[in-house]
Amino acid sequence: MSKSARNLQLAFTGESEASRKHLAFAKRAEEEGFRKASRLFEAVAAAETINAHNHLKELDGIQSTMDNLRAAINGEVREFAIKYPQMISDAESEGHGNAVRTFSYANEVEKNHAALCLKALEELGINNDDDYYVCRVCGYTAEGEAPDDCPVCRAKKQAFMTAQ
Ligand code: FE2
Ligand code: FE2
Repeated sequence: MSKSARNLQLAFTGESEASRKHLAFAKRAEEEGFRKASRLFEAVAAAETINAHNHLKELDGIQSTMDNLRAAINGEVREFAIKYPQMISDAESEGHGNAVRTFSYANEVEKNHAALCLKALEELGINNDDDYYVCRVCGYTAEGEAPDDCPVCRAKKQAFMTAQ
């Protein structure tokens, strides 16, 4: 791999991480009543997303939707089959209960995402107006309607937001 390809990968990871972090900072600024700082964090996060996508494009990381769904399924499966179980076990052995919880939420949600992506792959080309609903607590994603209780974290229906 050339140095530039490696750097594109590093830059993509860095910009992706920064954009998520700055969105979290925007939310905190909003909660604290600092509207201007919140808008700034949102704008910075949007710019970082643009740069992340530009880097990903140069890495040939964006393919046809059929291939992208396959890539998404592979990624999600890797997360719940290998990555998160190891992280959960490490956190358990260190007695880090909060890490166990957040990894366990994510682990369950990755299974959920893999199933949704598989369904979308099988149904590719069949379009309907069903929205997707995302649990604000754990990220569980539902198609068509939000459940009364989140199957992963037990949050109530009101905890779900539509994914735009
Ligand atoms: Fe996922
Ligand atoms: Fe949830």
